[in-house]
Amino acid sequence: MIRLEKVTKIYPDGTEAVREVSFEVDRGELCVLLGPSGCGKTTTMKMINRLISPTSGRIYIDGMDNTSIDENELRRNIGYAIQEIGLFPHMTIGENIATVPALKGWPKAKRRKRAKELLELLRMTPDGFIDKYPRELSGGQRQRVGVARAFGGDPPILLMDEPFGAIDPITRGDLQNEFLKIQQELQKTIIFVTHDIHEAIKMGDKIALMKGGRLVQYAPPAELLYGPKDQFVADFVGADRGLKGLQLIRTKEVMWRSPRTAKPDEEVKAVRDRMEREGIDWLAVIDDEGRFTGWVVSSDLERGRKVREIMSTAAISATRNAVLSEALSLMLTSGLNVLAIVDQHDKLEGVLTFQAIREALREAAQKASVRLGRTAPQREVSQ
Ligand SMILES: Nc1ncnc2c1ncn2[C@@H]1O[C@H](COP(=O)(O)OP(=O)(O)OP(=O)(O)O)[C@@H](O)[C@H]1O
Ligand SMILES: [Mg+2]
Repeated sequence: MIRLEKVTKIYPDGTEAVREVSFEVDRGELCVLLGPSGCGKTTTMKMINRLISPTSGRIYIDGMDNTSIDENELRRNIGYAIQEIGLFPHMTIGENIATVPALKGWPKAKRRKRAKELLELLRMTPDGFIDKYPRELSGGQRQRVGVARAFGGDPPILLMDEPFGAIDPITRGDLQNEFLKIQQELQKTIIFVTHDIHEAIKMGDKIALMKGGRLVQYAPPAELLYGPKDQFVADFVGADRGLKGLQLIRTKEVMWRSPRTAKPDEEVKAVRDRMEREGIDWLAVIDDEGRFTGWVVSSDLERGRKVREIMSTAAISATRNAVLSEALSLMLTSGLNVLAIVDQHDKLEGVLTFQAIREALREAAQKASVRLGRTAPQREVSQ
């Protein structure tokens, strides 16, 4: 879908920003450009939609040399969220988002509808924001509008330069999850720039790690974590790669799908028998609709006759799409050895245990080492 062939950019002042970079992004893939400040990420990205022309090398979009595609045509089909956000100050949020739809000649009502949909998608109440101007928004809100604008004309390709850079860490995590959900559905081909390794691992199907204008390693996140090509990559991904691997796995992949449950009206005695038989020290309590309401743990069994008298009510749960690092931190906050996984109506879908997390991590490391043609145990990286 997007192919770079030995692309080099030397700026007029002699700065060699990008040096013989080659990689290919397949349709529907999200490729992260990662690397320290000044390594050439933005320059690489801007050559794809021809905001910058390469000094040498070629870039192909869908097999076509991008210099042979009309510039306007190119930019209508490639959504672009720029690093500095760059909203048009004299245009409302709605008009900003619908920039490309307007170029494409969509009627006004359709443009407004599209802007509303996208605001909703990025968790901004459409009626509150659509008629405001950029100066009336916070930095984080403006950045979300920038992302919405990139999606505006429903382009097959998106270039996103640090799209969540100005957003606080918690909202950022939420937006990343939202974004991944959208991406799962829309399957756009995306190049996504960040210098945050956590974000790269979480978002990328592949990561292109750059240094001083060169592409050092181009690989799926697991391969970068478990098979760094050289010391620079090892240092960049860090010594805590095991923990970072938690971001590669979603709860749905490792949760226990048929958790043992109890109902609030059950006798404690029956529950105790069940726990002993199964050899477990907790049960998830669900109501008649299957909604998760809390836990019974074995240490509380003596305290009453009915489950409802001894159960602890639910405070914490996660969804099936949460990554394991998020799930683990919830488990640690809740103080339980188990986490309930619920759907959007709070219905219990499964449970996650520490043991499941440990096994998933071990498996991931093993798989990566097999793919890399190595046998476990892995060589240690960094230090
Ligand atoms: N117009 C320009 N003229 C001369 N040098 C430039 C120009 N734009 C960028 N550079 C230089 O090219 C190199 C790569 O810049 P680029 O903006 O691509 O980096 P980046 O990886 O996006 O960095 P950051 O993470 O800080 O955004 C840097 O050394 C930068 O100073
Ligand atoms: Mg940049």
